[in-house]
Amino acid sequence: MTDIKGTTRVCGLIGNPVEHSISPLIHNSLAGFTAHDLAYVTFKVESGQVKTAVDGAYALNVLGMNVTVPHKQEVIEALKDIDPLAKAIGAVNTLVRVDGGYKGYNTDIFGLERELEDEGIIIEDKPVVILGAGGASRAIAFLCAKKCAAKIYLLNRSIEKAELIAREVNDFFNNDTVVPMKMADYTTLDCTDYVVIQTTSVGLHPHDNEAVIEDEIFYSNASVGVDIIYNPAETKFMKLMKAQGKPAYNGLKMLLYQAVAAFELFNGISVSKEHVDAVYDVIKGEL
Ligand code: ATR
Repeated sequence: MTDIKGTTRVCGLIGNPVEHSISPLIHNSLAGFTAHDLAYVTFKVESGQVKTAVDGAYALNVLGMNVTVPHKQEVIEALKDIDPLAKAIGAVNTLVRVDGGYKGYNTDIFGLERELEDEGIIIEDKPVVILGAGGASRAIAFLCAKKCAAKIYLLNRSIEKAELIAREVNDFFNNDTVVPMKMADYTTLDCTDYVVIQTTSVGLHPHDNEAVIEDEIFYSNASVGVDIIYNPAETKFMKLMKAQGKPAYNGLKMLLYQAVAAFELFNGISVSKEHVDAVYDVIKGEL
């Protein structure tokens, strides 16, 4: 952790709630390992106050910010500039200080992209099944389409949300890669060896023993699974995958890599693998 001095720059996280966040641990560890003179804190901001908060942060010379639930959409109106992919996704989680305000990015998708690369999971030309159609799912659907998945089956309890995301992604890439489906219709999937990405909140602690699909056939037909949940470290979804002899990963690396990407954007640097690995050990030890 940095010694706070007159020169110390501030970065922070705006959201509500923010008390549970491990972003301060990740960013302050990164600052320590890379010898950057910055301190990262959380700011609890009420809905309707996001623009006021962002304008105030700029006036206070805050270097950069992350944005979490429920402000990833509302923050867009407070930006000076926005990255085109973040604009298409309609959600921003990173604000980088530029002349006259902040530029918005979505590093959640960089986070998953780097986790997939790390684990050797290939999306290109593969069928992908995404479980859930919330904010995280929308960004992941964009990422999988950008990475040229053969087909993306977007399964959700309420089909309307899946249909909306499918329309937006397909319109953006001008194709029909994303196929919306009702969660209950997973038995009609017309492919095997799919990559499954679990984005629903089902299985999140303290509901450790729940999974949105329990049927072992669904898991035996998959090739690999990623759950974006990282608490518990091994979700029921991951256990169901492993019971069929399939590899399964949690969302801790995605979380780490989205923070690393934000830290890199804040500071205009590239963090070495050695420092990323060191921070991964720190956060694994905390959970
Ligand atoms: P996030 O921003 O993390 O993606 P979210 O936008 O609240 O979170 O989305 C939560 C997702 O979990 C949604 O896809 C939700 O399904 P609905 O759109 O039908 O509500 C899904 N989800 C939450 N609880 C669920 C449950 N008990 N069964 C099935 N899906 C569930």
